[in-house]
Amino acid sequence: MQRIFSAIQPSGIPTLGNFLGALRNWVKLQDDHECIFAVADLHAITVWQEPAQLAQQTREIAASVIACGVDPGRSVFFHQSAVRAHAQLAWIFNCVARLGWLNRMTQFKDKAGKDRENASSGLYVYPNLMAADILAYHATRVPVGDDQRQHLELANDIAQKFNHDYGVAFFPPIEALVLGPAARVMSLRDGTKKMSKSDPSEQSRINLTDDAETIAQKIRRAKTDPQPLPGDPAGLDGRPEARNLVGIYAALADTDAVGVLREHGGQGFSAFKEALAERLVATLAPIAAETRRLLADPGTIDAILREGAERAAAIADPIVAEAERLVGFLRT
Ligand code: TYM
Repeated sequence: MQRIFSAIQPSGIPTLGNFLGALRNWVKLQDDHECIFAVADLHAITVWQEPAQLAQQTREIAASVIACGVDPGRSVFFHQSAVRAHAQLAWIFNCVARLGWLNRMTQFKDKAGKDRENASSGLYVYPNLMAADILAYHATRVPVGDDQRQHLELANDIAQKFNHDYGVAFFPPIEALVLGPAARVMSLRDGTKKMSKSDPSEQSRINLTDDAETIAQKIRRAKTDPQPLPGDPAGLDGRPEARNLVGIYAALADTDAVGVLREHGGQGFSAFKEALAERLVATLAPIAAETRRLLADPGTIDAILREGAERAAAIADPIVAEAERLVGFLRT
């Protein structure tokens, strides 16, 4: 059985993008994989997080992930800072990865923006920590949204260089699982920008905790163009907002753009948006309710994460200890 690793940052409320691009697939993969999932709080502090909020956000994200269907009985589920192996292996990888590789990372360029000199060095080496997250478990498959592809290519480069430099076949190759018709959900205000939990505009995203009225209102106001929906996917070229809404609908209805347009082609956006909002509410309302229920008992969430961290450490510690031995650290 192949081992899966994936993670989500506690840098805000999870969005529809997180759900369709990642969380929904995590849930399905539990049936036929050994799964390890984390709340990536070490990654979150690469940009400023209010200390008073970070712990609570970690709990909230954990509750959302469980409410989506990740089962902490079947899967290992924990928060990253509770397992030391991540930071230990990341340091070794900081010394394996080349500056030239990191300089090519588009997400760093996007996140650092114009004020690069003022970005944290953690933000720069963030992909090395991601590689450590996965490789500390010798995981081979990583379900993510499309935006993480480049980071996983880098993780493979790191694994290969480590193996080559130390003359071993220690770290396995990693396969990115970018699944479904909504692997890249775009902002509702701008179809060329990714939907993100850290976008300053609330109207740009659907949060997994939004109520029915908020979802309907955000979809109603979502940017579109004046044309009706085309009859086939070729007609979505040059219409990023239309393409985005069709992709979201396809994911929710378990079909593809062809299927959606067969049914809705020729329709104006107001009718289509109404149907889309209905589907969204049907999928997200039970998740929001379950998240609220879980958050009423933070002690239980903390206990789940604590137990998950113990199980995670039991897998990662021996692997990272072996990596340290290969590097040549003195073990007395
Ligand atoms: P994060 O927290 O930004 O997002 C969590 C997951 O959601 C996916 N995602 C999206 N998918 C489709 N459309 C979108 N608009 C969208 N926005 C986010 C992401 O691709 C991701 O799968 N660096 C990672 C967290 C991480 C990680 C790892 C992932 C840390 N260590 C190891 C995999 C393996 C991140 O920031 O995800």
